[in-house]
Amino acid sequence: MAEQVVADLREKCATPPSLLCDVAAAMADEMCAGLGKEGGSRVQMLLSYVDKLPTGREEGLFYGLDLGGTNFRVLKVQLGGNDKHVISCESREVAIPPHLMSGSSSELFGFIASELAKFVADEEKGTSLSNEKTRKLGFTFSFPVRQRSVASGTLVKWTKAFSIEDAVGKDVVAELQTAMQKQGLDMHVAALINDAVGTLAGARYYDEDVVAGVIFGTGTNAAYVEKANAIPKWEGELPNSGEMVINMEWGNFYSCHLPVTEYDQALDSESLNPGEQIYEKLTSGMYLGEIVRRVLLKLSLQSGIFGEIDHTKLKTHFHLRTPHISAMHHDDTPNLKIVEEKLEEILEIASTSLETRKMVVEICDIVARRAARLAAAGLAGILKKLGRDGCVDKHRSVIAIDGGLFEHYAKFSKCLEATLYELLGEQSSKSVVIKHADDGSGIGAALIAASQSQCRNVE
Ligand code: BG6
Ligand code: GLC
Repeated sequence: MAEQVVADLREKCATPPSLLCDVAAAMADEMCAGLGKEGGSRVQMLLSYVDKLPTGREEGLFYGLDLGGTNFRVLKVQLGGNDKHVISCESREVAIPPHLMSGSSSELFGFIASELAKFVADEEKGTSLSNEKTRKLGFTFSFPVRQRSVASGTLVKWTKAFSIEDAVGKDVVAELQTAMQKQGLDMHVAALINDAVGTLAGARYYDEDVVAGVIFGTGTNAAYVEKANAIPKWEGELPNSGEMVINMEWGNFYSCHLPVTEYDQALDSESLNPGEQIYEKLTSGMYLGEIVRRVLLKLSLQSGIFGEIDHTKLKTHFHLRTPHISAMHHDDTPNLKIVEEKLEEILEIASTSLETRKMVVEICDIVARRAARLAAAGLAGILKKLGRDGCVDKHRSVIAIDGGLFEHYAKFSKCLEATLYELLGEQSSKSVVIKHADDGSGIGAALIAASQSQCRNVE
């Protein structure tokens, strides 16, 4: 009985190369449709208004604010002005109190502005900076925003665990600017960017072959550089550079080729955003632990595999988190001691047999492997759109990836990389490179703020 549940899961989550090629082709098609006209695809292909990426000559002092990952971060970045030199980068991480994720816009932005004000005060204590000109800020806001310029944009919708109704449709820069004024903080938002755009910019600063920035963290997304004349929906004047960074918002990608199971369907219908972000719900850190929890619950209720247990924890949505399944999946102790501990500690499931623990590991493997292979198909889709998916391409194409899932879930990132080369052909590993862009988006925001900023910066 229990074996049957796992065998069904394995079958429904299968991702043979032919299916992945279909997913990659569908991703490339959706990209074209999204560039064609507003609303042309579920993949929004949002214009970022970033038309020049960092050159290495950016200079000055910038603050950064990074909202949308696990933690909210404030940063202070001093750029050296030549030789791609970041002189210093100070940052502070602050957890967002969960009630603010579904409260009101003014509460959320008020909290952010007050944390930023505290950070600025601490950083500038004993210096003369506070008497200088208006400070400049790069704001990384990791949600879909429709931009009309590089420093403004209205929130299209919330994703991940955020749901603040009165913020939808509002200019998030104006919201932040008002909240900062209330704090008496003299700071100007010079750039509003998505984390995938920031990752691209941060990585491009060091390597000019970077073609895309991708996040596999709480959520997932990708940004890449598109030729301006390949964006039919763009109505404005074409930029001198002839290029524009596109924030794909690929988390909302859907294709009939995606292997969606009963667990995914239930997760989706009970989520904050039913019917949306389906690719994200299959591939990102917020959801993988939750999918495994749902499978374990079915196993327990149907086959009593864990014996007589109290199901309270196992029935609690999002109680089993992706870091927990990662720890179990990577357990290499002889008797799966870590799996035993996690089941007991997190789900209050005690006295499991080794067979049962092996089954739990297999479930983690099926769910994480499907995620990694679908993620690789997404990357192959971008390369296909760029015409860089050939076996031996003469161009070097670097994909910069950031986010907790990619950084901390080794079996996920290894499988992602192996699958990408499986899809493109082994030879492609000479031209296509995956790089971990550590904390790219904070620095990326400062770099974009610097290149957009006309005035001299505070020294
Ligand atoms: C960080 C970036 O490294 O990764 C953030 O600087 C981004 O901007 C984040 O949102 C995503 O990671 P996670 O795992 O915290 O969602
Ligand atoms: C979600 C957001 C997107 C963000 C991604 C990664 O998909 O909609 O904007 O880039 O998560 O943080």
